[in-house]
Amino acid sequence: MARIVGGLTTSHIPAIGNAVPKEQELKNDPYWKEFWAAYPPARAWVQKVKPDVAIVFYNDHGLNFFLDKMPTFAVGAAPIYRHADEGWGIPTIPPFKGDQEFSWHIIEALVQDEFDITTCQEMLVDHGFTVPMSLFWPNASYTDVKTIPVQINTVQHPLPSPARCFKLGQAIGRAVESYPKDLKVVMIGTGGLSHQLDGERAGFINKKFDLMCMEKIVNDPESLTRLSMHDLVREAGAQGAEFILWLAMRGALTGKVKKIHSSYHIAISNTATGVMVMENAA
Ligand code: DHB
Ligand code: FE
Repeated sequence: MARIVGGLTTSHIPAIGNAVPKEQELKNDPYWKEFWAAYPPARAWVQKVKPDVAIVFYNDHGLNFFLDKMPTFAVGAAPIYRHADEGWGIPTIPPFKGDQEFSWHIIEALVQDEFDITTCQEMLVDHGFTVPMSLFWPNASYTDVKTIPVQINTVQHPLPSPARCFKLGQAIGRAVESYPKDLKVVMIGTGGLSHQLDGERAGFINKKFDLMCMEKIVNDPESLTRLSMHDLVREAGAQGAEFILWLAMRGALTGKVKKIHSSYHIAISNTATGVMVMENAA
């Protein structure tokens, strides 16, 4: 049977996509130094565990979906997922492998479970997906894993609640555990932590709230599902709403989890960046 080995989280800023090919050069750069220091422990865990499949909870920022058609939840069922120009000048990277059979298993299970998702047999993936994959699998070694993108709307209100995203994660966790192939599956939640990119509160960061979320998500994620979307936007900023992607990831970790790594850094591009590794207990 498929087995969930653990969860990874990281912020997903476009500027990081630009920095990824220059990692060696930027390693000691004062702006980037602390940021890069967060990743070796996470990469070491990925190397040790060697997942076969990555299920990535992310939000599209206007590359594949736009304001005219914005699904609340969309699941990829494509053989391959490509990145494309988002207007940030992020270098093009090799495509990501899909796993259509596993995607359809998850889609069937979600619809049975009353999640009326959008199914995508073609899907471009933006920095919300590509930056985390490039950080955890450096030098484009992400081609060693198959991927299933799960897109959650954090862009156009109304957004799904933290509780609903946690339940989506739980449903995906159950779907994975009922898949009869021997696969090691890692769950990834991208985006966050507190940030607001525009409007009166542009530059807003809330360290106290972020650290509370990073603590609670390990052993008491249910307490975070009691936050409303308005609470989240007030406490974490308009784009800090991306924390629902972390909660979806956490919902999918079915057992108790052990924190392997956690780091928090202010700020790359007005964003508090958080990185975590949680191992799923059997
Ligand atoms: C930026 C974009 C993002 O999607 C994000 O989550 C954080 C920062 C940016 O444009 O700087
Ligand atoms: Fe984002």
